[in-house]
Amino acid sequence: MNALNVKGLSKSFGGVKAIQDLCFDVHPGTVHAIIGPNGAGKTTLINLVTGIYAPDSGSIELFGQRVEGCTPERLAVQGLSRTFQNLQVCMNMSAVDNVVIGAHLSLASGLLGGMLRLPSMRRADAACRERALDLMEFTGVAQYARSQASQLPYGALKRLEIARALAASPRLLLMDEPAAGLNHTETAEIELLIRRIAERGTTVVLVEHDMKLIMGASDRILVLHYGQRLALGTTEEIRNHPDVISAYLGAAA
Ligand SMILES: Nc1ncnc2c1ncn2[C@@H]1O[C@H](COP(=O)(O)OP(=O)(O)OP(=O)(O)O)[C@@H](O)[C@H]1O
Ligand SMILES: [Mg+2]
Repeated sequence: MNALNVKGLSKSFGGVKAIQDLCFDVHPGTVHAIIGPNGAGKTTLINLVTGIYAPDSGSIELFGQRVEGCTPERLAVQGLSRTFQNLQVCMNMSAVDNVVIGAHLSLASGLLGGMLRLPSMRRADAACRERALDLMEFTGVAQYARSQASQLPYGALKRLEIARALAASPRLLLMDEPAAGLNHTETAEIELLIRRIAERGTTVVLVEHDMKLIMGASDRILVLHYGQRLALGTTEEIRNHPDVISAYLGAAA
């Protein structure tokens, strides 16, 4: 069973066909990158898969279940979690509480309930907190557990966001530019972390511009061009694909 199975997916904004009749699959337990030039439709695709947008047509299967048109909350319950390109961290809370919120989200209690610390939230807190600390250890930010999030360096916040997304125990994790704004060393560390997440059994879908990270972290790559599938293959196949080289890599160079 595929982690994701997308068939005939289309989404237009007025006259702009952002995603056109797109078909692709994501194998479970792998790291799958989505790349393409600016405006290729990457963010639109993520927003379709995460339920922010409903498709004009086509189907999306998440581990064998049809999910197109489902709300983000419903998709979270079905095992989908994501990180955001622009950090979605509550800066006035402690780092560990940010991760605890991620665990509550998986219980479909909602971000607001977590922030307001409703009684039901407090009961679930102890178990979630222990798990949150484990995940902060795993992502390499355990030393910041009790710090206020606003005190964390940017690189640590990116990792904190990953810990929060993992706290929901996702089967599929969508990462939107996890290395944006990071230096070479930090990017190499994120590459390792992504590999370790996949090794622990969580399928990763990765939208990134950093080619070194993509080539190092990914098992397979989908290349989008004007909302259409230009190529889909292993890292090696994509690296040597003539259409990809001329349309994307060539253009970038
Ligand atoms: N909400 C929207 N309303 C109107 N047009 C949109 C909207 N979202 C995306 N588009 C258009 O759809 C096309 C695909 O945009 P999208 O943001 O998905 O590309 P992208 O691959 O994420 O690009 P980038 O690498 O620059 O982030 C673009 O032409 C864009 O202008
Ligand atoms: Mg985008």
